[in-house]
Amino acid sequence: MRVGVLTGGGDCPGLNAVIRAVTLKGIGERGWDVVGFRNGWHGPLTGSLRPLSPDDVEPILTRGGTILGSSRTNPYTEGGGTERILEVLAAEHVDALIAIGGEDTLGVAERLCREGVNVVGVPKTIDNDLGATDYTFGFDTAVHIATEAIDRLHTTAESHHRALVVEVMGRHAGWIALHSGMAGGASVILVPERPFSIEQVSGWVQSRFEREYAPIVVVSEGAQPDGGAEVLQTGEKDAFGHVRLGGVGQWLADELARRTGKESRAVVLGHTQRGGTPTAYDRVLATRFGLHAVDAVADGDFGTMTALRGTDIVRVPLAEATAELKTVPAERYAEAEVFFG
Ligand code: F6P
Repeated sequence: MRVGVLTGGGDCPGLNAVIRAVTLKGIGERGWDVVGFRNGWHGPLTGSLRPLSPDDVEPILTRGGTILGSSRTNPYTEGGGTERILEVLAAEHVDALIAIGGEDTLGVAERLCREGVNVVGVPKTIDNDLGATDYTFGFDTAVHIATEAIDRLHTTAESHHRALVVEVMGRHAGWIALHSGMAGGASVILVPERPFSIEQVSGWVQSRFEREYAPIVVVSEGAQPDGGAEVLQTGEKDAFGHVRLGGVGQWLADELARRTGKESRAVVLGHTQRGGTPTAYDRVLATRFGLHAVDAVADGDFGTMTALRGTDIVRVPLAEATAELKTVPAERYAEAEVFFG
């Protein structure tokens, strides 16, 4: 059997750990040939691939990014769709695919499977916004990076009696903001799920200053003021129709400075949250997902995705994984609100 693996969408720490687990178990335990398609769905559309050997993957467990490259290629808007992918897989004698990705990559995997391609999915994203799994790998690392940044920003904010606004990623889900803000003792956490009142945020910031603490405001890139709209970096959309978010941190810092009369600065953590070495938690989760994806392919259980439920890895239908975004529930946000101001 010849099995292909690919990584699609925004990268995140832990992708290489999945590739390693799939390759080592696929070759060592199942006797498969394993190949890696390059750059997400671009690989199976163009036949760009490389064989993977145990020597290729042994050293990559701790490495961030993906040795296969990634892209946001959408086979249904560019490159020939299912028909082209079936042709390439037949020409390369690839019997099944393991697609590692988020909402968009797995949405393509689901459609491909309905149209005759043997695909198993593995969920990844720093945003942690996939409905069918308790956690995605990449999230824990992103939260650690953001928390470390917040810890450092506390000390410099105190020295200069400034408010610091920390903008984190997460797209339309506030998980990174919620977890890093809570872990880092933020004065306010703003998430896309709950439009905020700028008067109230400014009041909390003011009250922090009155108690001689420099406020740290953690804001998710998708958060928006009451009656306002998401702040966009550009109006352009990617191949899956997503706009590029970013800029709410600077807007907020300017507003807070104007309203409180205190110096306020914005720090955008951006892609640092996606780079570098995965945490031990993410390495283990990614490795387990890879091992279980091999079992799903061996069982012919296509159209499924590995998922974490409690501490168990289970298989769920791909359609379930992409059905709806997992956003921060009101009761989780309420826990964080206790510490605001
Ligand atoms: O989905 C992961 C993510 O990092 C989001 O949090 C963010 O909005 C987006 O990708 C950024 O994408 P890009 O790397 O294309 O700028």
